[in-house]
Amino acid sequence: MSGTSAVIPAAGSGERFGRAASKIFALAAGKPLLAHTLSAFERCSLVDEIVLVVREREVDEARRLAENCGTQKLAAVVAGGDHRQDSVERGLQVLSAASSIVAIHDGARPLVSRETIEATIVAAREHGAAVAAMPVVETIKSAARGDFVASTLDRRSLWTIQTPQTFDRELILTAYRQARADGFYGTDDAALVERLGHPVKLVPGDYDNIKVTTPLDLEFVESRISRMQNAECGMRNDSVLSPQSSVLSPGSSVLSTQSSALRVGFGYDVHRFQAGRKLVLGGVELPGEEGLAGHSDADVILHAVADALLGAAALGDIGRHFPDTDPAYRGISSIVLLERTAAILVEAGWAPVNVDATLVAERPKIAPRVPEMQERIAAALGIDPSQVSVKATTAEGLGEIGTGQGAACYAAAVVRAR
Ligand code: CTP
Ligand code: MG
Repeated sequence: MSGTSAVIPAAGSGERFGRAASKIFALAAGKPLLAHTLSAFERCSLVDEIVLVVREREVDEARRLAENCGTQKLAAVVAGGDHRQDSVERGLQVLSAASSIVAIHDGARPLVSRETIEATIVAAREHGAAVAAMPVVETIKSAARGDFVASTLDRRSLWTIQTPQTFDRELILTAYRQARADGFYGTDDAALVERLGHPVKLVPGDYDNIKVTTPLDLEFVESRISRMQNAECGMRNDSVLSPQSSVLSPGSSVLSTQSSALRVGFGYDVHRFQAGRKLVLGGVELPGEEGLAGHSDADVILHAVADALLGAAALGDIGRHFPDTDPAYRGISSIVLLERTAAILVEAGWAPVNVDATLVAERPKIAPRVPEMQERIAAALGIDPSQVSVKATTAEGLGEIGTGQGAACYAAAVVRAR
């Protein structure tokens, strides 16, 4: 079993939207919201089947809509229940036996990107449960009686939760069974998994991935879709390589809005070998090898990759974000630093596209461990391992690296505007 199913609950009454017809049929850029949502999953090559859950009286209309927008992956359209959780549960009951991963996504989130869907699937394969989420950008306070502030919460540990919420099939089925037995209703799917004591990984989502709730949200969806369409036209009409192109000319609308921008960054790092330290490269420990000196775990590959990503987004370097004068970072795993780097990029409106790193070291031979390194880096960045390259060379005995005093790494990264 290796397939992935998407369950799309779209059986709400849309009370806050305030129209007689269901909000999922409201038009944005000439297409029903539900059609935009279905298209995102249709385009995602990691998704094999789609199970759609709608109100009983809308089953036929939804099936027609899916056909009209060219959905090839539709496996079933089923009637939902009173609460979102009931609707999802009904969708889970008709999953194909071939699915081992289930991505649950609100029909009312039409702006979900293929990259966000894929990132949750990749992370769910590794962790069993992964949800799209965004770091909180505003200050959050909790209130006491009479609407007085009780406390100010630490924003650094707060995330707003979106969908897709993606799970190992058996895990989510068990969680739903247990919730049913206990009469428990959560405000999202992950809450049911958390009750089992299973960890849930947060994966950077997208500020655009809103849940359409009021008619005002429809205007936002319209404006984002037309911006994306304009950006695509800009990319088609202007050669990125031509010096005359609007992508490269200062002040062009495409450049100034970042909307279609791809940016490249470069990173470099070097560390000395030091006896008595363990060696960690590309997030993978290499036992029996002399380690590298440094404040953190001195993972020279991850440091170069993080700097390349930050450089692409012109967001400084890891020294600025994680200073080695801060005791919090002493001995810290660089995978954690890379995950935080990904969150910093997301918050600034960028998403990693690919990274390529070259280690320069006389030893050790890393080739057998490269696939693991690529997987670790990909998981930290929420991308597929095929988007990560790690390679190595020696310095042919030349210079300090060549005489085995240390290891260096060069990395390039491309990011895109989210
Ligand atoms: N949903 C569902 N079944 C329900 C309730 C909600 O499938 N019984 C779906 C909605 O269609 C939506 C998602 O769950 O895609 C998130 O719900 P929400 O945004 O609250 O939508 P509605 O419940 O439709 O809106 P409202 O709460 O304003 O009535
Ligand atoms: Mg609701």
